[in-house]
Amino acid sequence: MQSIYYTDVFSAPLRGGMVRVICQKKDWEPQVAHPDELIFAQSLVPRRAREWLAGRFVAHLVLEDAGLAQPHLPMMAHTSGAPVAPYGYGVSISHKGHVIAACAARMEAHQGIGVDIELVRHSRVPIERRILTPNELARLPEDPDARMRAIVTAFSLKEAAYKALNPLVHRYIGFQEVEVVLKWLLSDQHVIFEPKAKDLEPLKLYGRYDTVVADGVTYVVSVVHAEPFNSGRMGQGWMLDEQGQA
Ligand SMILES: CC(C)(COP(=O)(O)OP(=O)(O)OC[C@H]1O[C@@H](n2cnc3c(N)ncnc32)[C@H](O)[C@@H]1OP(=O)(O)O)[C@@H](O)C(=O)NCCC(=O)NCCS
Repeated sequence: MQSIYYTDVFSAPLRGGMVRVICQKKDWEPQVAHPDELIFAQSLVPRRAREWLAGRFVAHLVLEDAGLAQPHLPMMAHTSGAPVAPYGYGVSISHKGHVIAACAARMEAHQGIGVDIELVRHSRVPIERRILTPNELARLPEDPDARMRAIVTAFSLKEAAYKALNPLVHRYIGFQEVEVVLKWLLSDQHVIFEPKAKDLEPLKLYGRYDTVVADGVTYVVSVVHAEPFNSGRMGQGWMLDEQGQA
């Protein structure tokens, strides 16, 4: 059923869960999943309160997709800024103006999960030397448009990786500490990450990125999941196809 408040822009099944992107309509009213979230939001400046509540709204939707029965507990913020997921689930949120992405999955399927959404556009200041490793820089295409897309995608994937990893390792992770390796054999939208720091080595990190268009504007949305290196699972099964098959 279509909502009068938002448009569904994108959704894809994950192993044990779902990722969704929605676009708020002009007369979006904060839709509150839990009164405690509203109480917290009232301590924020209005613009941030709207954003925070909208993120929670989509996060509760994907938690339901992932199988969490209603009523849900409030999803408050950890001191790190990460949303505190209900027991047994992982959840992640990202916003760019009135476009909001969230993903959730049962934790038997993942150890950590992260989502990020970025505008596909040329950056005012060059960011590639800060966010890309030497290997990633060397792989950048020549064509200016393809190059910009590759930089934005790598940035988005790394921000999603940060959200999956930070709650596991409890420290800041720099852009040079993970490297995106394209996994062409599976699909050109799936990547694996190579950890460049010792404490990240016990984790396998997989990512997926998609281009989405909302209100005529193009975004890239990335989802990253982390699982223990010895999980015995092949990472490619973590994203499901339209029929829900791994
Ligand atoms: C934390 C960070 C990833 C947020 O990304 P952003 O593009 O600024 O903002 P987004 O809208 O995409 O994401 C914001 C959401 O991230 C989530 N978040 C914030 N801190 C988080 C953390 N430590 N762990 C997991 N999720 C976090 C929150 O849900 C937040 O939204 P909310 O406050 O409304 O709930 C980013 O600001 C940052 O610090 N990046 C530097 C580190 C990095 O990316 N390293 C890459 C190599 S791994």
